Amino acid sequence: MTPVQAPYPANRPRRLRASGALRDLVAETTLSPSDLIWPVFVRDGEGVEEPVASMPGVMRRSIDKVVEAAREAADLGIPAMCLFPYTSAEHRTADCAEAWNPDNLSNRATRAIKAAVPEIAVMTDVALDPYSDTGHDGFVVDGRIVNDATVEALVKQALAQAEAGADILGPSDMMDGRVGAMRGALESAGHWDVAIMSYAAKYASAFYGPFRDAVGASAALKGDKKTYQMDPANSDEALRMVARDLAEGADMVMVKPGLPYLDICRRVKERFGAPTFAYQVSGEYAMIRAAALNGWIDGERAMMESLGCFKRAGCDGILSYFAPAAARLMAAC
Ligand code: PBG
Repeated sequence: MTPVQAPYPANRPRRLRASGALRDLVAETTLSPSDLIWPVFVRDGEGVEEPVASMPGVMRRSIDKVVEAAREAADLGIPAMCLFPYTSAEHRTADCAEAWNPDNLSNRATRAIKAAVPEIAVMTDVALDPYSDTGHDGFVVDGRIVNDATVEALVKQALAQAEAGADILGPSDMMDGRVGAMRGALESAGHWDVAIMSYAAKYASAFYGPFRDAVGASAALKGDKKTYQMDPANSDEALRMVARDLAEGADMVMVKPGLPYLDICRRVKERFGAPTFAYQVSGEYAMIRAAALNGWIDGERAMMESLGCFKRAGCDGILSYFAPAAARLMAAC
């Protein structure tokens, strides 16, 4: 595209910024509640909403409260919710068997939401870290995270989630070959209409810290995730990961974290044109909320601006803990 512009003063770009009406008219991107996926933390119990200290405004909810939240989200026009279980120490074992228990917290929550609020799409997380005593996303053998045995377990976990009624599976584990293995197993089991949003370009990031508190993984995690999550220095590698996951049958791809990786979002969208999502992760949420609570930034404006930037970068949608707050604000406007 070669923009043609008259010389100043015939061309005065400020004319199109002169009023809200003109600015709205020429806005290149828009944000709506339908762009949002709301990640929620599920815990056991009943009637429980327990604040997550490192994520002000975010709760761990018992299943009944998650269902209430799903109703609220659907009414706000949010099309999808993503479930993360908070698992206590007794459900964390070396074999991670709780991951494919049809009655684990995540699967019970999925069934409860689909029964009460069928119109909201439920996305589930495919990874072993909530169930492993090491806090890693895969099995650890002799200090190494083993790939292929982990993929077999992830397939069992994915099938249990599909069986429970999940609409979208989100493999966040970064093992090699998991998307193809999951896709094949889903087809064989008749779950041809269950979508996969792969965490295709997921970086080994410091911005996941508050999430690990929220799901109870911080204490468990030994070491780091650098042998499977990507090096933040890399960009071409993200394109290779996205190409691979699409070739293995992913329906949608994700870049994670979000704001520090908008360059990756743009490259992925431009190169592949596939449905592309970004995850505005816990640390990004915590930074904005903490600054707002200190009175250092306008929290609402920073929230809306940051979400809008994902759309400008080319994303089709955003996973964000801000989803209900942003949707409420949009409904009020
Ligand atoms: C782990 C998982 C993580 C997040 C989503 N799934 C953390 C990690 O990789 O350690 C992070 C989400 C966030 O920080 O908001 N499977």
